[in-house]
Amino acid sequence: MPVSHPDPDPLAWWQRDVIYQIYPRSFADANSDGVGDLRGIREHLDYLNDGTDASLGVGAIWMSPFYPSPMADFGYDVADYTDVDPVFGTLDDFDDLLEAAHERDIKVIVDWVPNHTSDQHPWFIESASSRDNPRRNWYVWRDPAPDGGPPNNWRSSFPAVGAAWTFHEQTGQYYLHSFAPQQPDLDWDNPEVEAAMHDVLRFWLNRGVNGFRIDVVYKLAKDPELRDNEPDRAHDQDWPTIHDRLRRIRRVIDEYDGRMIAGEVYLLDLQQVVEYINSGDELHLAHNFVFLRLPWDAMAFRMSVREFLELADSAAWPAWFLENHDHSRVPTRYAGPEPGSGALRGRTAAMLVCALRGTPFLYYGQELGLPDAEIPPGRIVDLDGRDPERAPMPWRRPSRVGPGAGFTTSEPWLPLVADAERLCVEAQQEDPRSTLAFVRELIHLRSREPALRSGIQRLVNAGPGLFCFERRLDQPGQRFLVALNFTSRDVPLQLEEDLASDAELTLSTDPGLERGTTDPKTLTLHPDEGLILRLP
Ligand code: NOJ
Repeated sequence: MPVSHPDPDPLAWWQRDVIYQIYPRSFADANSDGVGDLRGIREHLDYLNDGTDASLGVGAIWMSPFYPSPMADFGYDVADYTDVDPVFGTLDDFDDLLEAAHERDIKVIVDWVPNHTSDQHPWFIESASSRDNPRRNWYVWRDPAPDGGPPNNWRSSFPAVGAAWTFHEQTGQYYLHSFAPQQPDLDWDNPEVEAAMHDVLRFWLNRGVNGFRIDVVYKLAKDPELRDNEPDRAHDQDWPTIHDRLRRIRRVIDEYDGRMIAGEVYLLDLQQVVEYINSGDELHLAHNFVFLRLPWDAMAFRMSVREFLELADSAAWPAWFLENHDHSRVPTRYAGPEPGSGALRGRTAAMLVCALRGTPFLYYGQELGLPDAEIPPGRIVDLDGRDPERAPMPWRRPSRVGPGAGFTTSEPWLPLVADAERLCVEAQQEDPRSTLAFVRELIHLRSREPALRSGIQRLVNAGPGLFCFERRLDQPGQRFLVALNFTSRDVPLQLEEDLASDAELTLSTDPGLERGTTDPKTLTLHPDEGLILRLP
């Protein structure tokens, strides 16, 4: 039975709005040093949301780290949690950005990196200075194994790094790093660490941020006995202590009104993922990497969505994303053998993410259908092969403004995508058939139609190769059918049930398709096409 909502929009901002991830190095460079910065973001807020249909219409931005950092992991190695790296600007620039965003009713989410600091953070420098330093136990130090090797079999999440331990000659012990050696893990079993990291949250909450994305939240609790990982049991993550730890983080967040935490729960078992949101007093949103890693296959998506919904508590709110700064972009990752299929799939993927019940996250450039950039060997800078998805945003036609494409007037820190001339914002803004025009319309449709935000969701059978679902509210005109073709063939919409014959074609990924009244029974979806129909 459809649930009726007396209030047309009973949702919190983080449920209602599209959240747009910005990788600050790559968004817009205001001071011409080749690296994006906070002022660059501020200068482009109108593009994101100026209150009219001409802008993208996102309701929140999440910015990857901009804190002082030696940049061994491009900011995910934080040397000072409460300041801004000079390459990105100053704290004043941050306050200006926050104020300007709030003026446009854009919420601001910052990245909190609590599992590890930089090895240049003063805490680690102290901790490493001697075995009896008062901060020694802020990090995880252990004696070598009897053979002189690392204390256990834990591996860094970066394959190129190998063991998660580095020997420190000066004090004769190993320290733990779940990522690069320049990112030593804090010891969250130490209450002083926990309190200090809570204060970091309060610093940004007091400045007025609306929420946090929590980096590798599942790593904040490990087996305190540091036992070896076993094939069926990881001891270096998702330890049961995580849930109380997260509740205490949530209590800090709840000291403030209307704030939100979204966590990177990179666990590939959905049962474990939902445990971070089900109890209602831990994360508000969990990034679901099972979904991101699915093959381009209707059944795979349908089953994974269904599994998530079956496991998630009814009060738990889903979040959906298919791109971020750690994964190949959709048009490249999902490109099929047919030319142009990657671009088509990029649109359909955006429709999927924005039409499913839950909060959509889009990654900067996803609205342009950016593919991965080609990075020549001499330009590789990331230790884990993630440069291609971090290429600078192409704003303007290189033929008009030079090779920096409006991102920068100097040499960009990473090469831009090859086809910036055609893919840039300027070109797409002039073309009503562009991916940008499509995604903008999709976001505005979602904002206009309460059923697409808070409506119930029902998966619908529609024949092989299609993923179909209905979103509806008990209100006139608030019933939509979303149909997505995951194949490279024309596929007729074969609905098992009789859905009325005079539906309205509201939006298609194919800009050539005529809008208006249509009979769903006679509809055929083109290769990789997505449709939203309004049902009577
Ligand atoms: C996850 C982040 O998304 C990634 O970019 C980073 O390298 C690791 N966490 C370590 O902080």
